[in-house]
Amino acid sequence: MNTNVKKDERTLKVGILGCGTICQAAHFEAAQKAKNVELYAICDIAKDLLDRMEELYHPQKVYSDYKEMLKDPMVDAIIIGVADQFHAMCAKQAILAGKHVLVEKPLGVSVEECEELQALLAKENLIFQVGNMKRFDAGLQFANRFIKEEIGDVTTFKAWYCDSSQRYKVCDNVMPVLYSSVTMKKPKGDPKENKEVYYLLGHASHLFDTARYMMGEIVSVEAKHVQKDGLYSWLIACEFANGAIGNLDLTIAARKDWHEGMQIYGTNGTIEVKTYNPWIFRTSDVICWNDTKKLTTSPYDEDGHFFRRQLEGFSDTILNGSKQLGATIEDGIATLKALIATHQSVQANGKRIVIKEVGGNL
Ligand SMILES: NC(=O)c1ccc[n+]([C@@H]2O[C@H](COP(=O)([O-])OP(=O)(O)OC[C@H]3O[C@@H](n4cnc5c(N)ncnc54)[C@H](O)[C@@H]3O)[C@@H](O)[C@H]2O)c1
Repeated sequence: MNTNVKKDERTLKVGILGCGTICQAAHFEAAQKAKNVELYAICDIAKDLLDRMEELYHPQKVYSDYKEMLKDPMVDAIIIGVADQFHAMCAKQAILAGKHVLVEKPLGVSVEECEELQALLAKENLIFQVGNMKRFDAGLQFANRFIKEEIGDVTTFKAWYCDSSQRYKVCDNVMPVLYSSVTMKKPKGDPKENKEVYYLLGHASHLFDTARYMMGEIVSVEAKHVQKDGLYSWLIACEFANGAIGNLDLTIAARKDWHEGMQIYGTNGTIEVKTYNPWIFRTSDVICWNDTKKLTTSPYDEDGHFFRRQLEGFSDTILNGSKQLGATIEDGIATLKALIATHQSVQANGKRIVIKEVGGNL
């Protein structure tokens, strides 16, 4: 079947592992639309779901056994869209099969499994990227360049990531109809039972990755947490390796519309960012003040399909050797350590935790 999407002469053939929420809402369509990618294969253990996705997205191959998809020599890269607890294991299998990897965030659930992956990857000539798609928000990319070139020495970083109490209504409206199956493979137990851990893995993995994308390494955190009537709130004080201080606000869910953004102060400039619910695919609003030039600048980019942009960037790195813009395995490990440090700090009543000393899991 033909679509109207114009593809480049050379495309990356991807095999997508998982036919659940994130693949239905983002990766299948992103792979279809990306100019340098071919949605070559899909895989899920849930046969009924796999059949439904084949009908909708028409990949060339479908696999119910991940090992069989990995054996397919036509597959260049694997997109891993399965539960967090399976990320490291599935990524390891992909690396051993010689495939490039784009794995959903967070990289994994324990520092040790992620470091094992890092050691394995070091022996291979493969591209490995973590799916922190916000790095492909053109507004955040503009702010990132402004920090490198114009802001001067940064003193202060404030960021907030507050999910919305109205999110599910908005997502229902903008996402495609989602399908599920009773035979989907899920981790043992209920990962949502401990909401603190679940929200840190799911949401703080974005907040910390964005903080690190803008500011570089985080040395330590001191975190406080309160929850009342289903409202979970964290305030996390950070020290950055560049000498700046920071404060991160994670709130699930604010009783308002999606509320995410940043303020960054430097010796020659200031940045303010408003970021939207990612599912409405809208580029962040960004204003940058340059004190020397007496100039404010704002990017304008209507292309807010972060998932398609992420995939095009990943493919461009593999096919053409262009610089990897997405999060690396080192970024993934540092973010996981920051999540664990936050959890440890909360349990120790706000004690300062040095991130590089952290191990284990949440
Ligand atoms: N980037 C984002 O903003 C974002 C948003 C939502 C979810 N996610 C991430 O996406 C990941 C997946 O979440 P989800 O809600 O789509 O999960 P899900 O449980 O809905 O779907 C996962 C699917 O993978 C299949 N699967 C798992 N292991 C398999 C295996 N070994 N072989 C074959 N099939 C297998 C399951 O059967 C299931 O259908 C999570 O890590 C989550 O954090 C990211």
